[in-house]
Amino acid sequence: MNKEQAEIRIKNLTSEIEVHNHNYYVNDNPTISDFEFDKLLEELISLEKQFPELISPTSPSQRVGGAITKEFKSVKHTYPMLSLSNSYSVEDLIDFDRKVQEGLGLQANDLFASSTVKYVCELKFDGLSIGLNYKNGELFQAVTRGDGVQGDDVTANAKTIKSIPLKLAGNFPPAFEIRGEIFMPRNVFDDINKERDEIGEAPLANPRNAASGTMKMQDSAVVASRNLDCFVYYMLGENLPFKNHFESLHTAKEWGFKVSKHSKLFDNINEVLEFIEHWDKERFKLPFDIDGIVIKVNDYKQQLQLGFTAKSPRWAIAYKFKAEQVSTELLDITYQVGRTGAITPVANLKPVSLGGTTVKRASLHNADIIEKLDVRIGDFVFVEKGGEIIPKIIGVDLLKRKSDSHPTKYITRCPECGTLLKRDEGEANHFCPNEMECPPQVIGKIEHFASRKAMNIDSLGGETIEQLYKAGLIKNIANLFDLKKEQLLPLERMAEKSANNLIEGLQACKNVPFERVLYAIGIRHVGETTAKKIAKKVKSLDALMGLTKEQLIETDEVGGVIAESITDFFADEKNKEIINQLKDFGLKFELSEEQQQACSDKLKDLTFVISGVFNKHSRDQLKEMIEFNGGKNSGSISGKTSYLLAGDNMGPEKLKKAEKLGVKIISEDDFEKMLLN
Ligand code: IVH
Repeated sequence: MNKEQAEIRIKNLTSEIEVHNHNYYVNDNPTISDFEFDKLLEELISLEKQFPELISPTSPSQRVGGAITKEFKSVKHTYPMLSLSNSYSVEDLIDFDRKVQEGLGLQANDLFASSTVKYVCELKFDGLSIGLNYKNGELFQAVTRGDGVQGDDVTANAKTIKSIPLKLAGNFPPAFEIRGEIFMPRNVFDDINKERDEIGEAPLANPRNAASGTMKMQDSAVVASRNLDCFVYYMLGENLPFKNHFESLHTAKEWGFKVSKHSKLFDNINEVLEFIEHWDKERFKLPFDIDGIVIKVNDYKQQLQLGFTAKSPRWAIAYKFKAEQVSTELLDITYQVGRTGAITPVANLKPVSLGGTTVKRASLHNADIIEKLDVRIGDFVFVEKGGEIIPKIIGVDLLKRKSDSHPTKYITRCPECGTLLKRDEGEANHFCPNEMECPPQVIGKIEHFASRKAMNIDSLGGETIEQLYKAGLIKNIANLFDLKKEQLLPLERMAEKSANNLIEGLQACKNVPFERVLYAIGIRHVGETTAKKIAKKVKSLDALMGLTKEQLIETDEVGGVIAESITDFFADEKNKEIINQLKDFGLKFELSEEQQQACSDKLKDLTFVISGVFNKHSRDQLKEMIEFNGGKNSGSISGKTSYLLAGDNMGPEKLKKAEKLGVKIISEDDFEKMLLN
């Protein structure tokens, strides 16, 4: 394909992909299978690789992420990013309506006059606010709130959010800003926490924190993987072609933005109150969190007349929902043992309706909280559903306390295996140290071993593992490799085919590369990324086992907590035995020859910044080559940068900075030569 043909194809692919993106992420109405979509995107990316000069900053390929932002640039908002004043009661809202009417010179309570102020009610999305700046219909900058005057430029991360259009459709003004809320849908949040649980990481507290934490990440590819979403709700600009806010929302939708279908226009404050009442009950059915309703005067002229205070507009107000609270009886406290051995006390409650669901259980978190609340079995407790998933007990109704109640004694032994519990200094939770024999921990470890990012044994799901464990066939990950088909066949739901699949799946483990085996063996705190880094650095498990905690820290890949976790793991004889059995079976406990050959110390102590597009290798490959050869990658040029590895289409800013700091600029060919010498 020549350049002209490529240009046409890229253009067509771009618009086709963006239509599918829009249908999927904005309209919730996919019009193509994931497989076909991936094919289109792959074709685009490969054409862009062939003709890098044709890559547009608004190409759908930019949504995949990859750009690293070491430090977010601070930028001044064109219009200060104000917040809203809050209200918590019907009285507050009636007061707001009265002030609006007075501010407009209308008489409150005058039935005829009141109909001249219309209000738009919107959901108050619980995430982080973002200002999206468009020039000639293309997203050019996305800025966080910051202190309201200036915020962080998070454009690279925002581009990965598929509901944020990179290019607009229709008749838009040449420059404008639109503000909205970036949030994490609840199912995405739940999935992330499930994964964190698998590797023994503490769960993220709530979707709001998860969304804002994600937007601060340096690696936009990780942001892309986190499936954030964005609703817009406020347009700003010179001479906008609208008379009122509702019209602006409607038009924003036509230009390609995601606007909530629940925004409504009302004639008076009474209708507003009904809307609020409706959502106070219904909000729990939404697939994302809201923490209130925003009420805005619709008419732009009226907005102008009302103006702003120093902090917020006088033409809008937020109504915040009260966290719903109920009182119910605490029937019992039970204790759950997680996959990592962490103990969670759970309150078993007399079933009660709260936030649209029947609540039977609530988390009591840990021993300290139980002591602080002094909660006792038989007490009437106040339960609240806040931003967190599991309802919380926030207090005890002491007036209803029974005279014969006893203070709660926290358990001292594991409810699953009877082992004495431990609690590390500074840790909130007790844990069961019997990693090797405590059933939920054993099953959890095996599940982790078989999971997709670890050994990826498709034929070994959670249920099968539990079945095998209960039948006494496996007690640890090494036992899996002793399984015989004859042992499997008598098990329930285990037909010839599933048994064969399982045995084959286990055989295939021999091909899984070292870095994934290292992740799979389940060393606490060693997640997928850490395992990769360690594998590259130390190259084999034997080498890793030979390192002391201090030496591990010196490798620069891990901190104290992980280093200690690794040395503790290998100090345990039982772990060593399991590792030996896995070795005998033939799992890869070192980098492959190919991987090893790519390793050297040639780039030791050198720091590289990669910029632009390359012909022979992808940026990820180059980064890997640098790491394999002992060098370091960095996202921004500083005095510490040794080389700027420059491809085509490199940003002029970077070039200027490199020249100013005297950083050596090398090409892809020069880089290859460095490795050959
Ligand atoms: S309008 C000048 N509309 O709530 C008015 N804000 O303090 C700008 N929010 O900072 C805000 N949903 O982050 C508006 N439908 C909505 C909203 C909304 C959530 C957030 C936003 C704002 C905060 C209010």
